[in-house]
This record gives sequence, C-alpha cells and structure tokens, in this order.
Amino acid sequence: MTGASDNVQAWLDEINHAARTRLGQGQVADYIPALAERDANRFGIAVCTNDGRVFAAGDARMPFSVQSISKIFLLTLALQVYGNRLWERVGMNPSGMPFNSLTQLEAEKGIPRNPFINAGALVVADHFVSAYATPAQHIQDVARSLSGNAGILIDQRVLASEWKHRSRNAATAYLMKSFGNIANEVDDVLRAYFACCALEMSCVDLARALNYLAAGGYAHCLQQQLIAPDLARRMNSLLFTSGMYDAAGEFAYRVGLPAKSGVGGGIVAVVPGRFSVCAWSPALDRNGNSIAAQYALERLSDYLPSSAV
Ligand code: DON
Repeated sequence: MTGASDNVQAWLDEINHAARTRLGQGQVADYIPALAERDANRFGIAVCTNDGRVFAAGDARMPFSVQSISKIFLLTLALQVYGNRLWERVGMNPSGMPFNSLTQLEAEKGIPRNPFINAGALVVADHFVSAYATPAQHIQDVARSLSGNAGILIDQRVLASEWKHRSRNAATAYLMKSFGNIANEVDDVLRAYFACCALEMSCVDLARALNYLAAGGYAHCLQQQLIAPDLARRMNSLLFTSGMYDAAGEFAYRVGLPAKSGVGGGIVAVVPGRFSVCAWSPALDRNGNSIAAQYALERLSDYLPSSAV
C-alpha cells in the first residue's frame, strides 16, 4: 500500500471507533415496520477512490435498505433518457420541509421542489415507468452492474411493508396526478419507487456504485462514462443543496460535501475528483438522517485538507 492508502484505512478505523460512541442515540425508522426490526448497534463506513480502490471499516459489507439513496440512481437514469425535459416537471431548489411533506405541492401546482424529496422522486419514478417495461428489474440490474456485486437484491419484505403503509406516498402521487404531473397509474409508479427504496446494498456497494459522481461521470465497474462530466457536477450541486432535506444547510456547514441520506440509515457523500464514501448506522435524528453516519462524515471531512487521495 502507498502512504495515502495507509492514511485512508487509518482514518476509517479511527472513525469507526469514534462513531460507535454515538450508537444508542436516535430512533430506527418505524413508519416502514420492516425497517424497525433492524439492529441499531451497527455502524459501517467505506470509501471508493476514483482509481477504484476500496477501504472499509466496521459493518461496511453488511447490506441495509438504501431507501432514499436510490433517488440518485432514479435521477441518473431519468436524465439519461429525458435530459433537460425532466426539469419541466420537477424543480431544483431546496424544499426546507420534511422529505414526505405535501404542503408545498398544492400551492405549487403539483410540481415538486426537487428530485430528492419523496414527491420529486415519484415524478422521476413516473418517467422511469414510462421508459422501462420492467422498472424494478432494471433498477436491480443497474445497482448490480454499477457496484460490481451480482448478489444485490430488492428486499421483498421491505417492499411489501412500504406498499402496505403507502398512504402518504399515494396521497402525494394522487395530488400530483390531479395536476397532470403523473402520467402513469399511481400504483405502478409507487411499485417502481418502492422497489428502488427496498434495494439492499452495503456501504462498499454504494461507495462503488456512486463513485461516478466523484469521477466526473465515469463508472469504474462498468469501465465506461455513465454520464457527462457536467451532469455529474450538476448532480453534486443538487445533492449539496437538497440531499439532506431540511437539514441540508446544517450538513453543508458541518461536512461541506454533496450527500444523500436514506431512512435505512445510510448516507453517501462525494468528494469530487477524489472519492465517494458511504457511512451507515440505522438510528436517525428527527430529520430522518443517521446520527452516527453524519458524525462519521463530519470527522472524515476534518481529514480532507491533509489527504493525498
Ligand atoms: O418513501 C419513503 O418514505 C421511504 N421509502 C424513503 C424515505 C427516505 O429514505 C427519506 N430519507 N431520509
């Protein structure tokens, strides 16, 4: 290993140790009952450098429910197919509201503020349903090929639990449909959206799969340019302003990186030009962001000015 590699592994080992002192704070998401069964005492972190090296510590190879982190895959795929036409139906600004809020939608004629709140992801999922005959299979294939892990699955229990407790997402989708901003049947859109959320991936899988955002759109596992460099830059801008919901400003102050969280407890962050990182621990704060994972990324950002990777 080079000196820089030694550094990264040493950071992750130190962060793993420190972040475990945060276990026991916060709550595992229980509005999706299948998620409430997850062990709150887990913590993992993985880094994937732009030359494809992976560093990991703690429970970094344990699969968890990616939930809203999948909104990055959905947006990437929809932009590939629809390009800038997508922005006629979803905005680019922070919402300053909880991720599942309906209040802005009525006043703003069914156009969600951004693609990372639930309403925005449902509009993106609607495009996805229009573009692919088997959306759930397609998202699973994409997650597998981008991470280089052919074992990635959609957790059918989580999927069934999200479907059973779908009232708020269904209300959101029907409200947008009443404004003409959902083209497909609401049930089809919800099924595709829940399948994305119910993907089970580890920190290592997610750091690898989303490395293209750090690498100017180049996907290592595919060995090809997935999206244009300027689109990777624009997606990072959206993640910076809206990836952490109404905590985006505080996270930007504390960590300063584009990032996306999910209620499964994962957070993916991007250091453009250098590496992608995923930290995970199931217990969440009141905004729906993992407490230990946020703390871990804050510590990681403290190392960055002196890093060679
Ligand atoms: O639709 C939902 O509410 C969940 N499947 C995803 C929400 C989520 O992960 C928000 N992130 N913090």
